Amino acid sequence: MLASNENPFGPSPRAIAAMQDVAAQVHIYPDPDYGALRAAIAEAKGIKDVSRLAVSAGSDEIIHLLTQAYAGPGDEILFTEHAFSMYNVSALGHGATPVTVPETDFTAGLNALLGGVTERTRILFLANPNNPTGTMMSVQELQSLQDALPPHVLLVIDGAYAEYVSEAYEADIRDLVDRRSNTVMIRTFSKIYGLAALRLGWGYFPAEIAATFQRIRPPFNINAFAVAAGTASIGDTDFIEMSRRHNAEWREIYITRLNAMGLPTPKAFANFVLPDFGTAERASAANEYLKENRVLVRAVGGYGLPSRLRISIGTAEDNETVLALLAAFTASR
Ligand SMILES: Cc1ncc(COP(=O)(O)O)c(C=O)c1O
Repeated sequence: MLASNENPFGPSPRAIAAMQDVAAQVHIYPDPDYGALRAAIAEAKGIKDVSRLAVSAGSDEIIHLLTQAYAGPGDEILFTEHAFSMYNVSALGHGATPVTVPETDFTAGLNALLGGVTERTRILFLANPNNPTGTMMSVQELQSLQDALPPHVLLVIDGAYAEYVSEAYEADIRDLVDRRSNTVMIRTFSKIYGLAALRLGWGYFPAEIAATFQRIRPPFNINAFAVAAGTASIGDTDFIEMSRRHNAEWREIYITRLNAMGLPTPKAFANFVLPDFGTAERASAANEYLKENRVLVRAVGGYGLPSRLRISIGTAEDNETVLALLAAFTASR
């Protein structure tokens, strides 16, 4: 399964033990404030004011709740042409108008984003690194974007893959939230923490936005297993560091070997790569060939990238299997 950017090592062993402990207690509602979980996240991520940190049922829920709170019919929601699909879904679901701007070399850019802003723009969603391109803007560019963005636009920095960049980058985007009253950061436990099926995300907001978010959030939006697993694993730095190092090592191996096979693959910052097969037909044939050999990757035609496939980085064995299959495929087709 290399189609959904999950952690191939599974959850942290601490998360599994914590869920086993909670199994006999699920007749009790969870703490509606999620105080222990929020405190654990705040401590692990260097956030001083825990009242500005909120949790959600996956970061998808934060995307929807922010859209519900800040945009509606007649409003515009801005993102780039190959942005994460949920931004479009959420805009349409709340009656707002999605507006896309082009990327350069599959990367969001300051001028293009600012060029898309109008009086009606309410939210700018930016995944950094982005899914499915894997590219990112620098922190300096993000600061320039913040400085130039009019105050009526909420900048949502989606750090679903931030842990795969570096701890320093995680701190940088946290600090961007403190620079402006119109910037929020959203994060997930679905990727490096290996808890995708539990549906757990979190966000760090300016005080006023945190208060609004808490008012509209369903009171028991996080289940007890997610609370236990998230609280236990957020500080498992050994597990995170091991996952980050494995990913960085294999990301470089993938890029080098895919390029050598004649499948141009852009520099990537998350836990997946995006080789180009030249045509939609060849990408589709490669996808079929991988499927026949029991490997699932993601076709990204729906993202406007029909000649590419998105391949999540797996275990060493998974990666060797994919690379051998693609070498065989490109040798003959
Ligand atoms: C950029 C980005 N944001 C948000 C999400 C949603 O993650 P979740 O709802 O599992 O937290 C994903 C999942 O693939 C993603 O790639």
